[in-house]
Amino acid sequence: MSNNYQNLKKSDPAIHKLVLGEVKRQKDFLTLIASENYASPAVLEALGSPLNNKYSEGYPGKRYYPGNEIVDQIENLACERARKLFGADHANVQALSGGPANLAIYAALLKPGDKIMGAKLAHGGHLSHGHKVNFSGQLYQQVGYELDANGRLDMKKLAALAKKEKPKLIVAGFSAYSRDIDWAAFRKIADSVKAYLLADISHTASLVATKQLNSPVKYADVIMFTTHKSFWGPRGAVILCKKELAETIDRAIFPGFQGGPHDNAIAAIAVALKEASTPKFKTYTKQVITNARVLAAELTKLDYKIISGGTDNHLMVVDLTNKNLTGKEAEIKLAKQGILVSRSTIPNDPRGPFNPSGIRLGAYAVTTRGFKPADMKKLAKRIDAILKK
Ligand SMILES: Cc1ncc(COP(=O)(O)O)c(C=O)c1O
Repeated sequence: MSNNYQNLKKSDPAIHKLVLGEVKRQKDFLTLIASENYASPAVLEALGSPLNNKYSEGYPGKRYYPGNEIVDQIENLACERARKLFGADHANVQALSGGPANLAIYAALLKPGDKIMGAKLAHGGHLSHGHKVNFSGQLYQQVGYELDANGRLDMKKLAALAKKEKPKLIVAGFSAYSRDIDWAAFRKIADSVKAYLLADISHTASLVATKQLNSPVKYADVIMFTTHKSFWGPRGAVILCKKELAETIDRAIFPGFQGGPHDNAIAAIAVALKEASTPKFKTYTKQVITNARVLAAELTKLDYKIISGGTDNHLMVVDLTNKNLTGKEAEIKLAKQGILVSRSTIPNDPRGPFNPSGIRLGAYAVTTRGFKPADMKKLAKRIDAILKK
């Protein structure tokens, strides 16, 4: 973040000042927001490159505009790196972000009115998994599943729900679930009702890619992940799928949903995926998990209730009901002291999502900044001291 944006300063001093303000804010605050991370300098350079200027509707070798010889090579490289990193048959790197990618996947595989079985929002799901305020819940019917009383997935209950509701697609994917996933069990449930299985690993993709968590690649029909949470990547998404679905998925993204792909973002995705294949990155993802575990353990010692009792990945949801604090109150108190966490619903939350009963904490961003277990221990104590005041 050493760029001082001289051209921007000259042409738009107001925005220049705000950009520098945001750079400073990002330095000054510690972010435990589980969906945030820092793009690497190389990723930011690719994003800010003149690739932004190109139009390239279509796919490599089949564009609707001339002049795409270089862009084709970039998109091919990004796809090749994604396939290789995950061992997948096919990759599409054009989706603009995770929400639109999920909608395009549904459009590719379902008819309006079909049932999507996805985790309810308060049980770790995402809006785009069929919630009623999202088009995924308006165009399709959500069959929502829940975590059990221990805050874990109960695969037997999920199997029974699938049998009763016969969804056309099952989403195995979460914004706020701290345990590893039994992908084979999800596959078995999907097969029992002839449903597609979508693995939305937006929160855990880098941990999967570096073999810290189970991989859905053998089991899911389609896998989607965002590139800005778990990697040092740009905002964007990658869709992986089996050969048989490649054409259907590609056509859903373009021409189904989008026009011209963001070639600068695709180049930046390629850069992030290359970074992710290095030993340095594997060390990073191991550290992320260690740091998250230390934070969960320390908070538990300080009498915080972690949903499911701990974490296998980078995040945890903390139930604050025993602390006489709401999620929003905790979020505000911590932000005033320079620590950013996001309020979060807890399973069966008696409160609404605007002022829910918990907070969600993640270790990606602080680990990118170099935090080690000793720092996480200090952080837990600091969080406790702030929340107690
Ligand atoms: C599991 C999951 N899927 C999809 C999304 C949506 O991604 P985006 O915000 O890039 O649209 C998110 C974002 O938080 C997510 O957590």
